[in-house]
Amino acid sequence: MCGIVGIIGNKPVASLLVDALKRLEYRGYDSAGVATLLKGKLDRRRAEGKLVNLEAELSGNPLDGNVGIGHTRWATHGAPTQNNAHPHFCEGVAVVHNGIIENFSEIREQLSARGAEFTTDTDTEVVAQLLASLLRSGKTPKEAMLATLKLIKGAYALAVLFDGEDGQIMGARNGPPLAVGFGDGEMFLGSDAIALSPFTDDITYLEDGDWAVIRKDGVEIFDGEGKRVERPRSKASTAYAQVDKGNHRHFMEKEIYEQPEVMSHTLAHYVDFASGKVRDLASEIDFSSVDGLKIAACGTAYYAGQIGKYWFERYARLPVEIDVASEFRYREMPLPGNQAALFVSQSGETADTLASLRYCKEHGLKIGSIVNVRESTIARESDVVFPTLAGPEIGVASTKALTCQLSAFAALAIAAGRARGTLIADEELNMVRALSEAPRIAGSVLNSIQPQLETLSRELSKYRDVLYLGRGTNFTLALEGALKLKEISYIHAEGYAAGELKHGPIALIDENMPVIVIAPYDRHYEKTISNMQEVAARGGRIIFVTDENGAAANDLETMATIALPNVDELVMPLIFTLPIQLIAYHTAVFMGTDVDQPRNLAKSVTVE
Ligand code: F6R
Repeated sequence: MCGIVGIIGNKPVASLLVDALKRLEYRGYDSAGVATLLKGKLDRRRAEGKLVNLEAELSGNPLDGNVGIGHTRWATHGAPTQNNAHPHFCEGVAVVHNGIIENFSEIREQLSARGAEFTTDTDTEVVAQLLASLLRSGKTPKEAMLATLKLIKGAYALAVLFDGEDGQIMGARNGPPLAVGFGDGEMFLGSDAIALSPFTDDITYLEDGDWAVIRKDGVEIFDGEGKRVERPRSKASTAYAQVDKGNHRHFMEKEIYEQPEVMSHTLAHYVDFASGKVRDLASEIDFSSVDGLKIAACGTAYYAGQIGKYWFERYARLPVEIDVASEFRYREMPLPGNQAALFVSQSGETADTLASLRYCKEHGLKIGSIVNVRESTIARESDVVFPTLAGPEIGVASTKALTCQLSAFAALAIAAGRARGTLIADEELNMVRALSEAPRIAGSVLNSIQPQLETLSRELSKYRDVLYLGRGTNFTLALEGALKLKEISYIHAEGYAAGELKHGPIALIDENMPVIVIAPYDRHYEKTISNMQEVAARGGRIIFVTDENGAAANDLETMATIALPNVDELVMPLIFTLPIQLIAYHTAVFMGTDVDQPRNLAKSVTVE
């Protein structure tokens, strides 16, 4: 949430800052701003709404200067107005911030009592005010920075400019990520490597509690006590560079259609198709000796974990407890040391997931993470990283990350089954064969179902509420379908276990409530069809997402039947999630919403 950039070099930086912010717009897009220093004087431009508004502001009212900072905002404190947009200024100090200053009201009260006048509703302004008051008391910028960081509590990544200090940008990190990029006679600061990819792939990540003074020719990094520290430099993955939409209307559409390819990359990382075996990967987690697994994640990543739970329990007979990370971290559950924990995250920065990870670490559990961003905090704090090879996911709604997470989970569940002796070699071979076919089947499904789903979505866009039903892993897809639809089309949607229908939601059924039933011809089919009958009997309009066998076996009238190819039960979630994504996508397109940047949302949720 919120994106930060900083550049110090030998040429004007304002337009470069905006370009970098474009690559961070997925983190927040309700206002944006840049500040530069020219001959020791700070100046800034800010605009409400998306970056195009800031660009327009800058073209009418340009900003010069070879050192600057920029910000794209996802509002936490204070409405998304121009006045609340970053950078925040106070007496020659400019600050951009990602995160939340938890003790801001306390600091604000103290400073106000001493005569400070606050001009915004943000928590960030206290940082600018604190720095300014410390400078007034005679401290140098470095001393003021160190003292400020000792006073503020919470999660933050900061970039700061000081009047009269054209030669430096200061940055600080406690929680949300902050990367320092090395160039040739120029240096960069950014919330992630994507933002810096046009400038450099030579990156150092600040660690929690670090702060840094960045100059044209290098960086000095300090810890929370002001002691110099060294942090490793690494090469950011070149995949970060490819963040355009190609021929697609939206990143989400592009990412949906990339799934066969990225699924196959991810599967190839885990599975040796030639030998029909899952590779030996998880040395730090010995699935044969653990007697339980904890999983925590948020949103779509949580749904990946829920399907992972079904697979670990069914194929490896390994008990799994899963919770959304925002509950997990506060549940104070007992954590026996002979268990392992798995965390799932596309960004690798989600605050609740990271806090859950740290909770398990404190209790001595072995930590594994399924993450898409290899350099992320969750990846770096894990004992073992199970990467998803989805490439950058820019659309706010997660699509290809999910199918890659499922690919990794399928392989891990098989590995665990083998290690625990619950799967024999032939079973493993059959499962690996099924997985090897998943990318090809996904490709043919994506090529064939679009026209039907477009017609259906045009119809769905006329409704205000939609119910999704399923059993087993399709219950999870029902939840995921409802999440996808509501987040990008703003149509109210609920996902339910089909068996729960008669325990309440059946009261909602009438001709104004389309019901999307996800039921391939598997061991749950007959039961789900009975639930579908209950919907039909009450005048509900059914959209039946099934396979060829399921379509042939059904004689109930439907508003639409989407018949996918018959596939092995293991790969069903990988395939059945595709129409679910496309229904949400096309419905949102018909509704005319901002598909890639839906209102109120941000891609990387680094606050609680
Ligand atoms: C939904 C969606 C979110 C994320 C969630 C977790 O389409 O994208 O629900 O899945 O915010 O994010 P990560 O995976 O980055 O931890």
